[in-house]
Amino acid sequence: MSSPLPPPQLRLGVNIDHVATVRNARGGVHPDPVKAAMTAIAAGADGITAHLREDRRHIRDADMANLKAAIGATPLNFEMAATKQMLDIALSVKPHAACLVPERRTERTTEGGLDVVGQHDHLVPFASELKRAGVRVSLFIEPSREALEAARSIGAAIVELHTGAWCEAMMARDETSAAREFERIRTSAEYAAGLGLECHAGHGLDYHTARQVAALPQIVELNIGHFLIGDAIFVGLFQAVKTMRTAMSEGRRAIAGDTK
Ligand code: PXP
Repeated sequence: MSSPLPPPQLRLGVNIDHVATVRNARGGVHPDPVKAAMTAIAAGADGITAHLREDRRHIRDADMANLKAAIGATPLNFEMAATKQMLDIALSVKPHAACLVPERRTERTTEGGLDVVGQHDHLVPFASELKRAGVRVSLFIEPSREALEAARSIGAAIVELHTGAWCEAMMARDETSAAREFERIRTSAEYAAGLGLECHAGHGLDYHTARQVAALPQIVELNIGHFLIGDAIFVGLFQAVKTMRTAMSEGRRAIAGDTK
């Protein structure tokens, strides 16, 4: 009897937005998000993610171009709102992938998934233009069937499931909500794969939650920023990325019941 196929490899995308947050606190050029990206890659990151927000509170236009030039063949994931200005920038930077996210000026971070049902017709032309330019299209969505079906109908190749509500419940040690939220992620990952969508996940992940979500075999990429940049203050970015990779590998191995 042939043994079952191993789950696909789990990639780590490191989001370097908050290196730019620290840089911008004083103006100037230090710390440099490009140097952070190179360090993360050296430590085992499979890709770099950066969010060019409308208010440019962290990443700036020049960072996107500099990152693209510096990281070479390593995939760059450009997080962006679905606006004409961002589309034009993305078409000129030509990242490996663009992840469309909702954006409100008053929020501290991306607070929820895209309203892919209500904004369906607005999002379709963004997805088509990006695809035409050879950019893979990802939609950052809530883990729900309706959102997944809308994402497929919009024409995205990838969905990134918002893990924020689950991570918050885990942090608050609210076991009931955490179990409910994790189940939403688990069933959505399964449903996404059934629809032929590549499934990513991110927001609020730390070593513990990344290890747990890594055990969902349909999820092939995690995008992680704030926790890694925060832990880098204590252990350095190279070590933080390495520890994250180990946590992800441990979670992945648990699928096969191999906990060595
Ligand atoms: N994925 C998306 C789409 C995001 O908007 C963010 C936050 O910028 C992340 C992942 C990373 O979240 P965190 O910084 O909480 O790890």
